[in-house]
Amino acid sequence: MATATTLPYRRVYVWELPVRVFHWVNAISIVLLAVTGFLIGWPQTIWMSDEPYQQYWFGWVRFIHFAAGYIFFFNLLFRVYWSFVGNEYARWSSYIPHRKEQFLNAWETLKVDILQTKEKGKISVGHNYLAALTYLGLFFVMLFQVVTGFGLYAGMSDAWLPWLFAWIVPLMGGDAWVRQWHHIAMWAFVVFTVIHVYLSFYHDVVEGRGTISAIVGGWKFERDDEFDK
Ligand code: HEM
Ligand code: HEM
Repeated sequence: MATATTLPYRRVYVWELPVRVFHWVNAISIVLLAVTGFLIGWPQTIWMSDEPYQQYWFGWVRFIHFAAGYIFFFNLLFRVYWSFVGNEYARWSSYIPHRKEQFLNAWETLKVDILQTKEKGKISVGHNYLAALTYLGLFFVMLFQVVTGFGLYAGMSDAWLPWLFAWIVPLMGGDAWVRQWHHIAMWAFVVFTVIHVYLSFYHDVVEGRGTISAIVGGWKFERDDEFDK
């Protein structure tokens, strides 16, 4: 068996600092939004030794939700900007399928990673196209959460930003419907996160080229005979 030192590995700088910062700000704010959002939808009676008027825990839950909502929104806007100025792996064209190879790569990844009907596929340096497609889908769910979230918030705020989205409430049939859909969309993030973290570990272990450390430090390790640009 060949040892690592004899293989022609090389380092490729894949995820630039802005992409990595976006990733972790996004991941942390979504976890906060999902946990606080879940509590808003299913409020609990806790700290019962205090009178209700002496408690503010639910106020904090809502405050964290709204503050994380703003951070999540501006972080997302920044990533859209970076998809026009960032490197080839971060560009919009890597996410929006418009070439035949992208569809073929997505199909092959599905067979290798999920259906397990093929043992090995081509290795992509950036995202594989199946992953890229899920990020694109998630992007639309994020937009939906921003529009419905700020739409709901407009009713409790005088700030101009939420009011940009106030039109969604009458369009969707009132606050109750908007909250219902906003709640349902939360589950898309929960399902995505479970599969995403599993597949990140899977690729890291099976391919041994630093998938997870790349989203921390930026670098991946590639063998010239293995990767597909
Ligand atoms: C990943 C993104 C988000 C997730 C997972 C999420 C999740 C949730 C959930 C589950 C609820 C409770 C709905 C219910 O059952 O009644 C909720 C409520 C709410 N969310 Fe979000 N949310 C997100 C983003 C946002 C954003 C960007 C804003 C904008 C400020 C926002 C503002 C609100 C508001 C105003 C409520 C209603 C709070 C209340 O009536 O007390 N959310 N969210
Ligand atoms: C322990 C937690 C996590 C780990 C280890 C992790 C790991 C990774 C890795 C390795 C990539 C690059 C993968 C690739 O090449 O396709 C990535 C990208 C991505 N992850 Fe995560 N992730 C985590 C949590 C999350 C969470 C909670 C979310 C949101 C719900 C998320 C959303 C994304 C998105 C949107 C991208 C694409 C980023 C971009 O292209 O700008 N991740 N993640």
